[in-house]
This record gives sequence, structure tokens and C-alpha cells, in this order.
Amino acid sequence: MLREIDRVLIDRSRIARRVGEMGEQIARDIESEIAGHPVAPAGAEPRVVLVPILTGSLVFVADLIRRMPLKLSVQLMTVSSYPGKTTQSQGVTLQGEMPRGLAGAHVLVVDDILDSGRTLGMVRREIEGQRPASLRLAVLLRKRLAGGPRAVDVSVEHVGFDIEDEFVVGYGLDFDGYYRNLPDIVTLRAEQFASPGTGTPA
Ligand code: IMP
Ligand code: MG
Repeated sequence: MLREIDRVLIDRSRIARRVGEMGEQIARDIESEIAGHPVAPAGAEPRVVLVPILTGSLVFVADLIRRMPLKLSVQLMTVSSYPGKTTQSQGVTLQGEMPRGLAGAHVLVVDDILDSGRTLGMVRREIEGQRPASLRLAVLLRKRLAGGPRAVDVSVEHVGFDIEDEFVVGYGLDFDGYYRNLPDIVTLRAEQFASPGTGTPA
């Protein structure tokens, strides 16, 4: 185990179990969405498009899609909200383009964690504006915020785990770009956050 790790919050076997359940549940939900939503022109094949938000959802989405027995395509988008050594969201910046051509598609947005809600609030609004046939949001983690309501109140249809308000890394989640490759979701020792000019985690 890396010496920077404080403790394992959710281990790889719990993650695998939950991600499997989520993939199967989401696939069932999208299938019933399709059944209740006739496509025009008649006979056209319904389109299912996954929109993973990079970089944090990298590992989660790779596991999730393999548990979704559906014909689907993937359109990536990249967002950055934590530049450098900070554990406070600095606002959302879209890197590159939003996925386009989602009108009439059944869209599933996938992110690693719901924190302030700024990222998913922005993405939900943008994609809704394209008039998809249906839109669902899935996150592996949702933080219970200690300091009151989320900055942006966004509804998320699928949640893997609710966690307390602490900074976590692993399974795709990073601190300053590192630790995404850890197979478990862990907290870091406090010294990791202590460097000149940056705060300690809330
Ligand atoms: P939001 O826009 O504040 O909801 O933040 C969402 C993004 O911030 C996530 O997609 C993560 O990339 C990042 N984030 C939020 N909390 C954590 C954390 O505890 N560890 C690592 N990244 C986090
Ligand atoms: Mg991140």
C-alpha cells in the first residue's frame, strides 16, 4: 500500500459488486425508456449514447459499460475543476467541445463524484438543450456536504455510494493528477495536502 494512503474507504470488491448492479439497473431503465418512447421515423433504431466526463470517470466507465448489455456508443467530454494541489472546486472549465448531435438519443452521463454539483449542473443543462429522447446521470460517489446544500442542486438518477464530506482518491479520482490508478477508493494522509499556498482539505 502507498504510504500516502490514510485509509481504504471502499475496497475494490465492494466497488466491483456495486458497479455491476448499477450497470444492469441502468441498462434495464434505458430499455424501458426506449420501449415507452417511439422513435421517428418509425423503425429507426433507438440510439443510446454514453457521455463519460473525463478524466475522473475513466476507470468507472470502463467497468460500467462492460456490465451494460446494450448497443451503445460513447462520446467523451473533458472538464476540469480542480487545477493543481487543491481540494476546493475552482469552478468548471470545459476542455474542448461538448458532445453534439444528441437530439433524439437516450443519453447517459457518467461522472466519478457529485460534489458541489457545478459540473453536472452545467452538463445537464447543456445536454437538455439538445433535446435528447431521455437523459440520465450516473455517479459512482455522492458527497453528503457538511456545510449546507450543494452550490448547484442537480438531480442524479444513479448513485453508487453516498460518502461523507472528505476528499477521496483512487478508482479514477485524483489529487493533483495522481492516484487515479489505485484500485480502491481511499483517503490520503493530511501531510499530502500541506504545501505552501494551498489549503488543507475541508
Ligand atoms: P463538482 O463540480 O464540485 O460537483 O465536482 C465534480 C468534480 O470534482 C468531480 O468530477 C471530481 O473530478 C472532482 N472532485 C470532487 N470531489 C472530489 C474528491 O473527493 N476527490 C477527487 N476529486 C473530487
Ligand atoms: Mg478530478
